[in-house]
Amino acid sequence: MGSVINDDFSATEIGEGLYQIWCPGKVSCFLAVGKDVALLLDSGYGLGDLKGFVETLTALPLTLVNSHGHIDHSGGDYQFDFAYMRREDLSLARRHASHGERSRALEFLGRSDPGYADHGPCELRPLADGQVFDLGDRLVETLACPGHTAGSVALLDRSTSTLLSGDAFSRHVWLFDDDSTSVPDLLRSIHRARETGFSAMYCSHSAERFEPSFLGELERCARDIRIEKSRPFAVPIAGAEALIYHEGGELFAAADFVSVVYMPAKLGEALGIVGKHLIYKYENGWRYEIYVKDSGHFSYRIHSGMVGGRWVTDQEAHIVEIATDVWKLSWDEPTGTCVSIAINLSARRLHGVIFFPRWVRDDPQKTVCYQNEHLDRMIAYRDQGPTYPKFVVDEFAAITFIEDCGPCRSDIIDRPPSALPEGYAERVN
Ligand SMILES: [Fe+2]
Repeated sequence: MGSVINDDFSATEIGEGLYQIWCPGKVSCFLAVGKDVALLLDSGYGLGDLKGFVETLTALPLTLVNSHGHIDHSGGDYQFDFAYMRREDLSLARRHASHGERSRALEFLGRSDPGYADHGPCELRPLADGQVFDLGDRLVETLACPGHTAGSVALLDRSTSTLLSGDAFSRHVWLFDDDSTSVPDLLRSIHRARETGFSAMYCSHSAERFEPSFLGELERCARDIRIEKSRPFAVPIAGAEALIYHEGGELFAAADFVSVVYMPAKLGEALGIVGKHLIYKYENGWRYEIYVKDSGHFSYRIHSGMVGGRWVTDQEAHIVEIATDVWKLSWDEPTGTCVSIAINLSARRLHGVIFFPRWVRDDPQKTVCYQNEHLDRMIAYRDQGPTYPKFVVDEFAAITFIEDCGPCRSDIIDRPPSALPEGYAERVN
């Protein structure tokens, strides 16, 4: 691993043919050198001659990709012919390439580079999720990771199994400004990144080599965020009233701190229930199981009762927090059955109301299946009816089993109740 330095830039080889290049303004970009082409991820603020510096590392033709549209990542695009960027960040990048933003950046960094504020962006070409760049003997894959900005991406260098996360993932994720999306988006992006099976990760504002387990720590932190456990965080360049939530050791001091700066409005509505896996028993004896996959979907399995044996994955639902740690899930099924359940997690108590169409009450066995594979049949039954009078069941239930499995998993509810080990649904904790 070597390093190359001039007045403005320094490069460290972090993997075979993979360089982290530090630019003015404490931001880095990354260079992956293939047999035929080299790929540059980001262009820094655009202070100093980045292009000239890169040419000291490789003479190959260069493809420029922007991890997102912020000025410290795309501000140097003007030195190149074109750059790839997600559509969602194109207007942000154009705004950040303006005279006003560049002047603010110079002031913030205490620099006065002549002519800098007059540069515009370069041609920006849309970047697709999953887009693969073939560098000859090296493939680099694009992974859309909304959160920090709507158009943020991470790149996976397949030859070294290194994930280059830009600002999407780090020890200090910023989700606070108008260009950021939501905490649930961040969680989904983390989940996707973990699924790639990468072996090492680097981000733009740190030289740290992250192990894959770091994304588990970041996921936990993002999932645990509570306004009452957060504190105000002054953001000098944005002036927004952001909050910071952090876990691990002392913020910015300990080796293991992890933090998210966010606006309360972007916390998302369904955060605390996402990832929860519950088994509950109604007072009428019916036993149900649910797993909340993300802020708009859940899966369920029915162990006993009128439609015992039925199971469903990825059902869309409206999920809201109606009081601290009290959640409401409401949904309309392809069968025409409507359900609303209120879950009090700390009291381990639940109340459900199920509105069955008449045809389900008359012949419940018609719905006992893995519904996802029989949607057309369920909809045909629903349309055929009869629907009325509806059969309404409203019951309290005790939550007998509860665990936190994390979001977006497909292996929690993946088989019918009959294929589960004996005693599965009767477990109590
Ligand atoms: Fe950024």
